[in-house]
Amino acid sequence: MSNVIVILGASGDLTARKLIPALYNNFKKKRLPEGTSVLGFARRPYSDDDFRQKMKEAVLTFEPDDFNEAEWGKFSKLLFYQMGEFSGEEHYRALSLRINDVSTSPQNCLFYLSAAPEFYPIIVTHLAGANLLSETETGYRRVIVEKPFGRDLASALSLNSVLHGALQEHQVYRIDHYLGKETVQNVVVFRFGNAIFEPLWNRNYVDHVQITVAESVGVEHRGNYYDTAGVLRDMFQNHLLQLLALVAMEPPAVFDADTLRNEKVKVLSALREISPEHSALSTVRGQYEGYLSENGVGQDSRTETFAAVRLFIDNWRWQGVPFYLRSGKLLNEKISEITVQFRRPPTQILDVQAGKTELFTNRLSIQIQPNEGMHLRFLAKVPDEGMQTRPVEMAFNFRESFGVKAIPEAYERLLLDAMNGDASLFARSDEIELAWKFIDSIREGWEGEHAPPILPYRKGSWGPGAADDLLGRDGRWWVHESGTEDGPIAGLIK
Ligand code: BG6
Repeated sequence: MSNVIVILGASGDLTARKLIPALYNNFKKKRLPEGTSVLGFARRPYSDDDFRQKMKEAVLTFEPDDFNEAEWGKFSKLLFYQMGEFSGEEHYRALSLRINDVSTSPQNCLFYLSAAPEFYPIIVTHLAGANLLSETETGYRRVIVEKPFGRDLASALSLNSVLHGALQEHQVYRIDHYLGKETVQNVVVFRFGNAIFEPLWNRNYVDHVQITVAESVGVEHRGNYYDTAGVLRDMFQNHLLQLLALVAMEPPAVFDADTLRNEKVKVLSALREISPEHSALSTVRGQYEGYLSENGVGQDSRTETFAAVRLFIDNWRWQGVPFYLRSGKLLNEKISEITVQFRRPPTQILDVQAGKTELFTNRLSIQIQPNEGMHLRFLAKVPDEGMQTRPVEMAFNFRESFGVKAIPEAYERLLLDAMNGDASLFARSDEIELAWKFIDSIREGWEGEHAPPILPYRKGSWGPGAADDLLGRDGRWWVHESGTEDGPIAGLIK
């Protein structure tokens, strides 16, 4: 059986930065099945050799440490290119012939939609028209869909209906690259592979949960797209809500794609929508100073580059526990972390050295990136100082335990999983729709009379001060424990 990965939109950034480097690394690790070929499809008039050369330059640019001339020589023989346009049946007939040309029949085909989202319906319809999507007894036909998956519930429903017109759900792999991150998958392992935390993982012991996904870069060359999206669509609907679902879900009975996704769907369907009247109380939006002069951004744009949201999950486990989510561009540093803040001891009989006795709580910080790992904070006795105490932490660091190069790029795993037919780390249609439903409720509030203002914030800050007030009103504050540069006590001091 041969395998063909067809990348539709192969001359774009994603192919060069992520897809080809990931396939190349899988090849080097001997994980690509025998008889795999990669067929790029796009408008540019490349030959196979041009494409190979461009991809070589890409790997040299984006993964210079991983480059090996001899391995590349072997890998590049698997790369092919077919010039074609997204509209026009004839291009898909030619594609179909080329697929047979670069592989032996019978073959598995994985189509990667790496194009602008407005082309998804047309591509899928044409692939189906050229009979490239019907599964044969001997080979699978699968489609990977890149984000963004719609821009609201209505458009996501309509895209799902186009996909379901041509494919069955089990053939569709909707990418959320956060799910390909080792540290994100480790949330599931940590919660359900260990017995000691799960009994505490609920409203009886958890005071609140924070999820921060901060970026230090601005919109860079993506102003055109970003200005039509904003951080709520770009980051919350997918990455942050996926993190939330993994942190909050019930243990799945077995570890397979549908059972896991059923549990995530239950969390998403229990999200309490933020009504327009609560918009300003539960959400904050900001725009970094200088955003309006970015390329591709409208001069009077009201697109948010930062948002913070306080939400609740209406189920038995989490009733009354606030989840605070924030994300933004041009913030102080690039960091993604989940913090589970446990309740205080019922009485505080011990003195805390910092003089902030009332503030001590246990806290678990899960570092998604960088400094991938975990920190658990607890109280310890300061030696030789009477009964003085101080918060200290136990830390686990992926790279220390498993080696500096232990963490692969998310796309390596996702591409292999799609080839192997494991959809656990891909979003199902109902997850996507529920996530949009929640995001739409926020956006509706942002258009109403109780909308929070769009607040400017400085590059290198943590967003508008109103994001601190969102927690401050509840007697809480954002914590930030990125490991070594902060002392263990730093989280106590605002
Ligand atoms: C993408 C967003 O999905 O995720 C980008 O479109 C963002 O705007 C990126 O920069 C962040 O991903 P990561 O893996 O660098 O945290």
